[in-house]
Amino acid sequence: MSLLEIRDISVRFGGVHALEQVSLNLNPGEILGLIGPNGAGKTTMLRVITGVVKANHGEVKLEGELLNNLPIHVRVRKGMGFAQQIMRPFREMTLVENVALAAGFKHTQYPWLSLFRFERNEALRESRKWLAKVGIEDVADSFPEAVPLGYLKRLEVARALAIRPRMLLLDEPLAGLNQAEASAFADILFELNHQGQTILLIEHNLAEVRRICTRLVVLDNGQKIAEGYPEKVLMQSSVQEAYIGKGNLNAKN
Ligand SMILES: Nc1ncnc2c1ncn2[C@@H]1O[C@H](COP(=O)(O)OP(=O)(O)O)[C@@H](O)[C@H]1O
Ligand SMILES: [Mg+2]
Repeated sequence: MSLLEIRDISVRFGGVHALEQVSLNLNPGEILGLIGPNGAGKTTMLRVITGVVKANHGEVKLEGELLNNLPIHVRVRKGMGFAQQIMRPFREMTLVENVALAAGFKHTQYPWLSLFRFERNEALRESRKWLAKVGIEDVADSFPEAVPLGYLKRLEVARALAIRPRMLLLDEPLAGLNQAEASAFADILFELNHQGQTILLIEHNLAEVRRICTRLVVLDNGQKIAEGYPEKVLMQSSVQEAYIGKGNLNAKN
């Protein structure tokens, strides 16, 4: 059975059809790449999955359970780990405290309370492990403003991991990184997946997508235009035309 089942999702913003009848599955243990040119509807799909955006039509199911009417925090507790939008780093907290706060989110609607309770030390110890998993335990006690962008992106993933999510949902985690940093970060995602973490990865860096994803779904203008093995999908003329038509095919591919 699929972990996540998306059926016939349509989203309109005024006159814009951001998504039109898009279906996709996220299977346990895979790292699924959701790709497509700018404006294709990728972020909108992620927001529908997490509950930030309500679809005009269609279903989101987690292991068969309909999620459509559940609020974001309930979806988080059901195992959706994501970093964008709702969890920005708190600048007055160290990196490890930021991770501990995210971990508390799983247990209470008032995550900051968990930081003042007796399990605080345990939470901090555990949070260092998540920072180690993404390779930034050396800056655990630094404040967000003192570390580079690449580390903040890894912090976001560490915070998502802290709730021990059934699926990790990532929106362009490699954006803004140079190729060496992007490659190192992609290696970390690959390793997490290798250890069993299911991942839905929206990403524009097609070289890394091709390297680490087990399967791809391609959106263009709100519609699904291709799906399958990365090598095959990236060779399809419809996919290449979608990128070239928008003038943003990654030249390195
Ligand atoms: N909140 C919004 N209000 C109005 N239009 C939106 C909103 N969010 C996205 N859109 C539009 O929906 C389409 C898909 O956007 P998006 O999902 O962000 O694409 P992608 O992430 O693939 O670049 C675009 O035309 C975008 O301008
Ligand atoms: Mg986007």
